[in-house]
Amino acid sequence: MQQALEAWLEAAARGEGRVGAARAAAEVDAGRPWEVLAHAGLLARCRVELAEEDLGLTRGLKLRKPDGAGVIAVVRAGEPYPAWDKSGRRSRGAFDTPPEMARETVARALDVARVRVQSGMDPACGTGTFLVAMCEAGIAEVRGSDLDEAALAVARVAAPDARVERADALEPRGIVDLVAGNPPFVPPERQDKQLRERLRARFPWLRGRFDLVVPFVAVAMQSVRPGGVVSLILPAAAMVQNYGAPLRRQLAAHHHVTHLDGPMPFPGASVDVVRLVMVSEDGPAMVADTGVHAEELLRLEHVPLVSSMAPGDVALVEKVRENSVPLGELAVVDTGVVAHGIHGSKDRLIHDEPAPGRVCYADARGFFAGERRWLEYAPDRMHRAKRPEMFERPKIVIQRLRGSGPVRAEIDRDGVYVGHTCTVVTPEKERVPLERLLELVRSPLASGLIRIERGARLDLYPRDVAGLPVPRTWLEQPDMPLAEAWGIDEHQQARLGQLGVGA
Ligand SMILES: C[S@@+](CC[C@H](N)C(=O)[O-])C[C@H]1O[C@@H](n2cnc3c(N)ncnc32)[C@H](O)[C@@H]1O
Repeated sequence: MQQALEAWLEAAARGEGRVGAARAAAEVDAGRPWEVLAHAGLLARCRVELAEEDLGLTRGLKLRKPDGAGVIAVVRAGEPYPAWDKSGRRSRGAFDTPPEMARETVARALDVARVRVQSGMDPACGTGTFLVAMCEAGIAEVRGSDLDEAALAVARVAAPDARVERADALEPRGIVDLVAGNPPFVPPERQDKQLRERLRARFPWLRGRFDLVVPFVAVAMQSVRPGGVVSLILPAAAMVQNYGAPLRRQLAAHHHVTHLDGPMPFPGASVDVVRLVMVSEDGPAMVADTGVHAEELLRLEHVPLVSSMAPGDVALVEKVRENSVPLGELAVVDTGVVAHGIHGSKDRLIHDEPAPGRVCYADARGFFAGERRWLEYAPDRMHRAKRPEMFERPKIVIQRLRGSGPVRAEIDRDGVYVGHTCTVVTPEKERVPLERLLELVRSPLASGLIRIERGARLDLYPRDVAGLPVPRTWLEQPDMPLAEAWGIDEHQQARLGQLGVGA
């Protein structure tokens, strides 16, 4: 790393900028592709900053005093140095894949391909990890593209036999036998508005708050010949969330999912990922290791692609749904108030003391800890103001994000206005007993059902809560167990119970 870093610093000091400095660092390790990726790959993801004072850099590019522990290079005041570009990486979705993960992703694809794999492509290749893995696996013609010139400069050195160019992965460019890679995970709030509109026009089926990986996968499928393979690292959410449902429906209906590994953590990113391997135009077929056929999966509204799905699960979900109405038909289900305004910050609206015009308020953490604050309820000054009756009537308050932890929910009869970290359930009619709905929301059986339909996370957005199945008979009969009302047998009950507690 030291030599690559020194080469970067010298090139930057000569005024070569981010791209030239990344290239100079890569050339130090030329001929040793994995070292190019480990050293220059890291430097390519940095911004060029000017040191305000003398500083030292560690192997992991941490800033220290020039004589600090682990310092491998010293930068003098006024000279350029590589600064870790956290926000730039996030907006570009630039997270580089560990070598072993890339190798395995390519190896699995080669195992299942129905054609001889002679051409491979990573359309968002970054610094070239998958290009190196594909060349190493003996694929004759390897192509890569990306939008980031500094990353491409490194990829050209790491994989000199690959054809590397600056191009948009969302524009199809020819047909290959294999597409392998780790596309940019870019959630809607980090996407360019115009790009979103263009993508919606091009893919009219794109739904809701889609991640950029959704159109990316669609284009990847169009870029592979029948019998060829698409083998990708994707955010686990795209395999279960509503926004990915139209894509999953197409995948399950036309292609053969041969591997579905994970969810697993991805170094440096806050989201879990899965490895999805699909043989093009070879479906519908049995889905990876689940023992569930895609035809069966297609009967579920959200077509979840989760490795925990097991034989019998689809029939179980169907049985429950057949005997129930969605909670959303009995109650208003919505997110709490976004208590910061277009014209004022949150702190101007939320106070520690009551006063005329203020209502009792809590965010999720405060609500469940019994802490209350005071909100100036001013719908015209708030972003997404809600209807007061939603808070003032007796309701169930649910913590929206629980990750893998159990569902957290309570009844509130005090008219607390809760923040948008909560999901609120307000029954439409007095006769829907809140205690019964709370029992359903908190039930491990309901959690098990969510896990079949939405994977391991128990995050409860309004859509998830509104979809909870309320058995018709159960509401009226206070002693009836939930499983009986759903009409499921002992095995099915045990399956839900086991999934519900996260086993
Ligand atoms: C998650 S990184 C993966 C890089 C590489 N495939 C790997 O696995 O190490 C995603 C890459 O997509 C690139 N990218 C973002 N939007 C793109 C687009 N529209 N077309 C091509 N590349 C894009 C980013 O610059 C980044 O290098």
